[in-house]
Amino acid sequence: MNIIEKANMEHFHSKRADKFGDSDVKALGWKNLESQQKRFEVLVEFADLNNCHVLDVGCGHGDLRYYLGEHFFGLTYIGIDLMTEFLDEAKKRYGHMENTYFVQGDFSKMEVANVDYILASGAFGYKTTNELYYWQTISKMVEVAKKGVAFNMLNQDEFPEHPLLRGHNKAEVLHFCKALNYDVELKEGYLEGDFTIFIRK
Ligand SMILES: C[S@@+](CC[C@H](N)C(=O)[O-])C[C@H]1O[C@@H](n2cnc3c(N)ncnc32)[C@H](O)[C@@H]1O
Repeated sequence: MNIIEKANMEHFHSKRADKFGDSDVKALGWKNLESQQKRFEVLVEFADLNNCHVLDVGCGHGDLRYYLGEHFFGLTYIGIDLMTEFLDEAKKRYGHMENTYFVQGDFSKMEVANVDYILASGAFGYKTTNELYYWQTISKMVEVAKKGVAFNMLNQDEFPEHPLLRGHNKAEVLHFCKALNYDVELKEGYLEGDFTIFIRK
């Protein structure tokens, strides 16, 4: 993503924050709390995350930290997000939880080491003119995570044209992930217009 695209993304979120309130799940771009939680429910199905180091790319308000804490024990959580406003909220909400860290930055440009699993809910929903961005970011996640990666995307067949957001071609994403030569699973049907990919190493 270039600097203009990042600025557009920030603008999109601050407009939603003005409309719905900074701490509302709708400021993150989600339709409602149920749709955010349903995505989490599906994402964490893919592996036993007990005692693991988990990196949450595009953590927003950090709500996945709480969700993980309810379902797994002994994990270390690192949430990364581009937006400082979201991270301030994340730290306020979950910064007190043990083994919990929030870091500001662009995952695609950060050096990351020593994580078992990478999860990303909603991080691929933004348009960029750099078509390679999605493939490079998925590849980087797979390269960095020792055990596996799970991420969701909006399905382009069901997502209307939008100036800043975009859906993805499910078959194309699946094809790309399978070519990485790991165990790949597609999950769909849990929420209209959304799909999830699991990559187990
Ligand atoms: C739709 S929100 C979802 C937030 C959170 N995962 C949740 O489900 O509540 C997507 C988030 O991804 C972040 N994001 C997108 N691309 C990113 C990148 N390359 N590095 C870090 N954060 C990114 C955005 O700033 C935004 O907060």
